Amino acid sequence: MNQSTLGIVKPDAVKAGSLGAILERLESGGLTVVGLKMIHLTGEMAQGFYRVHRNRPFFDSLTGFMSEGPCVVMVLQGENAIERWRDLMGATDPAQAGEGTIRKDFGQNIERNAVHGSDSPESANIEIPYFFNALELAG
Ligand code: CMP
Repeated sequence: MNQSTLGIVKPDAVKAGSLGAILERLESGGLTVVGLKMIHLTGEMAQGFYRVHRNRPFFDSLTGFMSEGPCVVMVLQGENAIERWRDLMGATDPAQAGEGTIRKDFGQNIERNAVHGSDSPESANIEIPYFFNALELAG
């Protein structure tokens, strides 16, 4: 099934200069970039994006981190793109992530974990329009 998912290269990975390597991983992993932009989120934008986590103890720290520097938001397309991107990313906690995954190789800890991906088609349908309108997507 051809799908779209939202991916984010988080501020830690952008700052570390890992953007190109991460793009290479996802393209060679079978995903196509159909939308992409660099954006420095405000605290409010990060809070809006992660609102499902608003009652978690890490919410303030997470949204502070996500607004500390620019990130790259992108729409990825491909066969089973949601699961494919999640497989390429690896587990949320880089310490638990499998060998060869992006979070294992570029993440620092469970919060500063280099990348984000939608966890379901329902999430993708909310997350993609949070950052992109239809005119900004090539696919
Ligand atoms: P992400 O896939 O973007 O989804 C929610 C984010 O919250 C997650 O990646 C991590 O960056 C962060 N996160 C999840 N669990 C924790 C935790 N226990 N402590 C700190 N940050 C977390």
